[in-house]
Amino acid sequence: MPTIAVYPGSFDPLTNGHVDIITRGARLFDRIVVAVLVNADKAPLFEVAERVEIAQTVFKSLSNFDGLLVDYVARRQAQVIVRGLRAVSDFEFEFQMALMNQRLNGRIETVFMMPAEQYTYTSSRLIKEVFSLGGQVSGLVPEMVEQRLRRKFTARGSTRSRSRSGK
Ligand code: PNS
Repeated sequence: MPTIAVYPGSFDPLTNGHVDIITRGARLFDRIVVAVLVNADKAPLFEVAERVEIAQTVFKSLSNFDGLLVDYVARRQAQVIVRGLRAVSDFEFEFQMALMNQRLNGRIETVFMMPAEQYTYTSSRLIKEVFSLGGQVSGLVPEMVEQRLRRKFTARGSTRSRSRSGK
């Protein structure tokens, strides 16, 4: 029986840290389904459709989900939830989620994976903050994400001048 893993997240936006985890997961499991959360509490920068489009372009295979993660995982006949752990600060929330998901469905295992060292400080939140303030994010997100960020913040008129930094 193939081992199917679900890698869920907000992916707002997808970073190279996510790409790294997906690439590592793809070596470990027969199949890894990238699942974009539809209903986030926080107001996302990118619409779900755009987040899905980005991930589809980068990976050509993904899905989105609403409702309980464990229900989605079961519907996909997957056995594993993959989550990235970057630092101790991630641990508490991830530990709570893993145990709650275990209580909700004891047949689904959460597996934590470490990204490559150079992505241990990369987060979607910081990427948005740095970019919106005129900082460089090249190498930390796929090229397509950088283009979309540029488009989004230019449309909002909220980026500082990038001409000095060559962008
Ligand atoms: O990228 P994120 O924002 O850290 O991902 C969080 C996510 C999507 C994994 C989490 O919010 C989630 O699983 N949401 C679905 C609703 C659910 O199942 N909640 C109970 C989790 S214990």
